[in-house]
Amino acid sequence: MAFVVCYLLAFAFFNYAGAQQLQSNISRGSALTPTTNSSWLSRSGMYAFGFYKQGNGFAVGIFIAGIPEKTVVWTANRDGRLVSDNASLLFTSDGIALQSTQGQSLVVDAPVLVSSASMLDSGNFVLYNASRAIVWQSFEYPTDTLLPNQPLIAGIAGKELVSAKSETDHSSGTFRLAMQGDGNLVQYPVDTGPDGGTQYAYYASNTFTAGPNVSLNLGVDGRLFLLNGTGDGNLLNLSLGGLPTQGRSYLMRIDADGIFRVYSYDLKQKGNWSTEWSSSQDRCDPQGACGYNSYCVTMGAAIDCICLPGFEYVNAGDQTLGCERNSSVGDVCKSKNWNCNYTMQELGSTKWEDEPYMVLKPSGKEDCKQACLGDFNCQAAVFDGLSCSKQRPPLRYGRRDESTSKILLLKEVVMSSAPPAPRAVVPKRSRKNGRNLFLIVGVSFTALGFILLVISVTVLWKNNVWAYKRMSEVNGDAEWNEDVTPRPYAYEDIEKMTNNFNEEVGRGASGTVYKGVIGNSQKLVAVKRLEKVAAEGDREFQTEMRVIGRTHHRNLVRLLGYCLDGPKKLLVYEYMSNGSLADILFTPERKLHWEERMGIARKIARGFLYLHEECDTQIIHCDIKPQNILMDEYMCPKITDFGLSKLLQPDETQICTGIRGTKGYVAPEWHRKIPVTVKVDVYSFGIVLLEIVFCRRNVDWSLPHDEAILDELVYHYFESGELRKLVGDEDMDSRQLERVVKVGIWCIQDEPSLRPSMKKVLLMLEGTVEIPVPPSPVSFLSTI
Ligand SMILES: *[C@@H]1O[C@H](CO)[C@@H](O)[C@H](O)[C@H]1NC(C)=O
Ligand SMILES: *[C@@H]1O[C@H](CO)[C@@H](O)[C@H](O)[C@H]1NC(C)=O
Ligand SMILES: *[C@@H]1O[C@H](CO)[C@@H](O)[C@H](O)[C@H]1NC(C)=O
Ligand SMILES: *[C@@H]1O[C@H](CO)[C@@H](O)[C@H](O)[C@H]1NC(C)=O
Ligand SMILES: *[C@@H]1O[C@H](CO)[C@@H](O)[C@H](O)[C@H]1NC(C)=O
Repeated sequence: MAFVVCYLLAFAFFNYAGAQQLQSNISRGSALTPTTNSSWLSRSGMYAFGFYKQGNGFAVGIFIAGIPEKTVVWTANRDGRLVSDNASLLFTSDGIALQSTQGQSLVVDAPVLVSSASMLDSGNFVLYNASRAIVWQSFEYPTDTLLPNQPLIAGIAGKELVSAKSETDHSSGTFRLAMQGDGNLVQYPVDTGPDGGTQYAYYASNTFTAGPNVSLNLGVDGRLFLLNGTGDGNLLNLSLGGLPTQGRSYLMRIDADGIFRVYSYDLKQKGNWSTEWSSSQDRCDPQGACGYNSYCVTMGAAIDCICLPGFEYVNAGDQTLGCERNSSVGDVCKSKNWNCNYTMQELGSTKWEDEPYMVLKPSGKEDCKQACLGDFNCQAAVFDGLSCSKQRPPLRYGRRDESTSKILLLKEVVMSSAPPAPRAVVPKRSRKNGRNLFLIVGVSFTALGFILLVISVTVLWKNNVWAYKRMSEVNGDAEWNEDVTPRPYAYEDIEKMTNNFNEEVGRGASGTVYKGVIGNSQKLVAVKRLEKVAAEGDREFQTEMRVIGRTHHRNLVRLLGYCLDGPKKLLVYEYMSNGSLADILFTPERKLHWEERMGIARKIARGFLYLHEECDTQIIHCDIKPQNILMDEYMCPKITDFGLSKLLQPDETQICTGIRGTKGYVAPEWHRKIPVTVKVDVYSFGIVLLEIVFCRRNVDWSLPHDEAILDELVYHYFESGELRKLVGDEDMDSRQLERVVKVGIWCIQDEPSLRPSMKKVLLMLEGTVEIPVPPSPVSFLSTI
């Protein structure tokens, strides 16, 4: 060991003198800059805390400095922006402050006043209080890597590692490894609920009976193991270890490809890290190894992501990013010299996420194809010999699976050079999916259209035959949860379901919501009784039926059925067990962590993106507010209450007339004589986003008068660079805070054309595009 230490010391001095300080006792006032004193080394010189280079800039973290390949093991604020070479780090009594052109933020935020810090030889960076007790340590906030003697302890809530985006970009990627509160070590894609959705897990230690406080540990001999909550028992050895403890370094990491591995490094030989153990040998195992609309195929040690037929890579440079519909086909179909038709492609030997919006029991594969062809919403269906499951777009978690007998049936556009057909409807909006369907409707009075009409009628008729078969076969309720086309209920059924409207769970603008149970299935539902039975209520009802019945997205609440019995109008929705977003934001005890809230914001944005751009009929919600966003059992947000939205025909922009959303959330153009567009939703979303950030209502008159209106307050603090003052002592990354607030301010611009589209909003929230500094929401022109 002595040899190693000496060697490393020499190494550190010869290679990094001038750039790094060998200072294991760091006192307040010490500073680092990326180019001169760039990091604080541990006593042996093995580990360093400070700036490291990433892309064109610098990030702050801990890396192994004692080897040529400076391996990053921890990153502060991993999703913050990179800084340029004129940034600096300062050790203050509050923690480690990063000063850059974007302002100052604490990258290590100490819970109490601190006096000194150490970069330890274990790889742990620690802060001490005045009496030299550790008050903060990087070992408790792992990113994607565990070092020997750094346990990942579950606790009640569980704790997790999140993979990096790529080998060179250490910001959060798409996979997580969760040490769960039940004792199970499980891997999921990041976008699934906490401890939730076993259907999404792609690795599990199966120690789910071990109870709380189980920990994942890496030994100095490379053994990876689980320890019991009581600390005395060795629960499970994942890797056997027994590797040399001298002259070698070990680490465990969940890699960007979603697999976690134990690595070793030979300090004498140098060279590369070598893999000692990995959680899986098949790189297609991680759910989502390939992006949307593509499937994973193993190519020796590498993988290949193959686009579905009729799709092309979103980015040919990075095929794991997924695929989208071949746009040239869509463009050709828009031009009037071509007719486009649809066929069903078959793709066998692949496995996909199975989240159908409708399951049919057809008589065979051909019937399944016809059912999909005859359904506007159907992009694909899975046929397994018995049932035909229509899938929600996009298709994800695809991989080759030679053992499956399921066949993916995929709707594909085919072109034919038929003579020009007169078009009844000219789609103005440019949309990827579904727009061609309008064309088909448009030409439905031509011969082609007539044929299609015949097919549709045939399919409708067949649908009814199947529906009839289902009813007679299974006697009512048993299958309702598979077939989610809204089904009609008699009023008596609803009374039974809700135990005579016994339990009220909510009250909205258009009616009261009751909890219910469907028959033998014991499945919970929410029944909404529309109370205003005026003409408006009628229209509302029919709109809601038509709109919701045809939307299928994981961030929208599903309509399961309805009842129309004279003046009595009721809707049956899937039940959301965690109340509304309003309950979560405005109940201090239920307040979620910043990262979780940001995840929720992104999911809501995805729901609205679908409504605005991806479903077959553009839908403007018109009443976006936290009360209309419900939370399911996995705390996944789902948008509800389309009662105020209207269908938008391709040529219309003026809709939602005569309806106002909810005060505090409505866009200013409601009060002006200008057309109302999807941008009214973007405005309301912006307000909701600010509420998610600051966990308070936009308008709150219980506060002092000058603090009552959140959006005004936010812009004021944003302009003066003092946003942190608005978040109290909540732990969050200042740069991320600023980013999200900027998105919010762009959304609430008075001038609708300045507001971004929902697509742009999502890209900004995901951090994939730069966000310019927004102007004041209230423009000079609009105040005249
Ligand atoms: C570390 O530095 C602080 C301040 O300079 C000093 O008070 C303390 O005694 C030092 N601790 C050690 C272990 O050297
Ligand atoms: C690096 O830090 C040391 C100790 O704080 C200081 O003496 C030295 O001048 C610094 N070097 C540069 C180039 O700033
Ligand atoms: C720091 O560097 C950035 C980019 O190189 C530059 O835009 C900025 O003006 C610099 N700031 C200072 C204070 O020198
Ligand atoms: C788990 O750890 C927590 C916090 O240290 C402790 O309160 C709890 O009693 C532990 N549970 C078990 C079963 O050991
Ligand atoms: C795990 O490995 C260690 C060291 O080889 C051994 O002592 C222990 O009994 C093993 N535990 C289990 C549960 O197999």
